[in-house]
Amino acid sequence: MKTIATLALSPTAAHLAQASTILQNGGLVAFPTETVYGLGADASNDQAVAKIYQAKGRPQFNPLIVHVANVQTARRFVQWNTLADQLAKAFWPGPLTLVLPRKKDAVLSDLLSAGLPTIAIRVPKHPVAKALLTQFGGAVAAPSANPSGQISPTSPAHVRSGLDGRIDAIVDGAVCTVGLESTIVQLDDGAVLLRPGGVAVEDIEKEIGRPVSIRPNVEKITAPGQLNSHYAPQAKVRLDAQHWRPDEARLGFGAVDCDLNLSLSADLVEAAANLFAHLHRLDAEGKATIAVSPIPQTGLGLAINDRLKRAAAPR
Ligand code: TXA
Ligand code: MG
Repeated sequence: MKTIATLALSPTAAHLAQASTILQNGGLVAFPTETVYGLGADASNDQAVAKIYQAKGRPQFNPLIVHVANVQTARRFVQWNTLADQLAKAFWPGPLTLVLPRKKDAVLSDLLSAGLPTIAIRVPKHPVAKALLTQFGGAVAAPSANPSGQISPTSPAHVRSGLDGRIDAIVDGAVCTVGLESTIVQLDDGAVLLRPGGVAVEDIEKEIGRPVSIRPNVEKITAPGQLNSHYAPQAKVRLDAQHWRPDEARLGFGAVDCDLNLSLSADLVEAAANLFAHLHRLDAEGKATIAVSPIPQTGLGLAINDRLKRAAAPR
């Protein structure tokens, strides 16, 4: 693939206008969201969407999330329902993605949804994402801005180290505050969890007053989360480490002696925000193994353990 100059844009009005023009012309722009950096392209443009897959080296069968500035824009693309309304009121803008039937007249690339009759859509909360989406006006397809299979980026430096020369621009929006991808739920008669993420399942259940079911891993849809190895550092990952072994990079949680701590006070929100950044840092030390303390399986712990399991999966 030909190398291109990857512009560094700041979140000023002039640079956001430039980023929006690049998108309109079919280019690729990495931009901050509250979860992770996204690699954005015009969601109505097949060629632009194809470039995302090429830049990431991503298997083509993974459908992408559509990002929009607000609920009204979302409703141009998907068939809205009562549950969607409830969840959007409670959690948008924010780290929740809704999977809904695609509207017949939605002007969206077919490549984007991998031919599925549904669309995954969200309204991000990060002010820079909001400003860019508002300026652009339409739908922006954006997976995480990292080469396929690697650790997701939570800073502009992570994006550059993975995709420099392969994308048109990176908009700087500092470090992502949530640090983990959005929670994905499919809505029809009920809500089905497709990927744990930045909104805790317990909070969704509280909002809709009924349980969220978990889809067994048998569908045609292949989420990156359903590939065994994903979010993988160069180093091997050893989970549930109660004791450290010699020569491991030590990623702790709670009051333990370690190299980097996800959260000294065992706060799962703080741990989620630190997860990818700490994995990037420990991986850069070049040790053969990163060992990780046990993480409780509640709240955001579900999403953290999901990502860690995939980082540790055989490759
Ligand atoms: O936080 C996030 O969601 C980040 C930021 C950039 O917004 N984006 C992100 O995108 O994580 P990506 O492409 O890495 O993950 C997209 C997920 C995949 O698991 C994909 O299978 C699922 O969304 N997905 C997309 N469209 C779908 C659909 N129609 N039905 C079911 N799953 C879908
Ligand atoms: Mg990803």
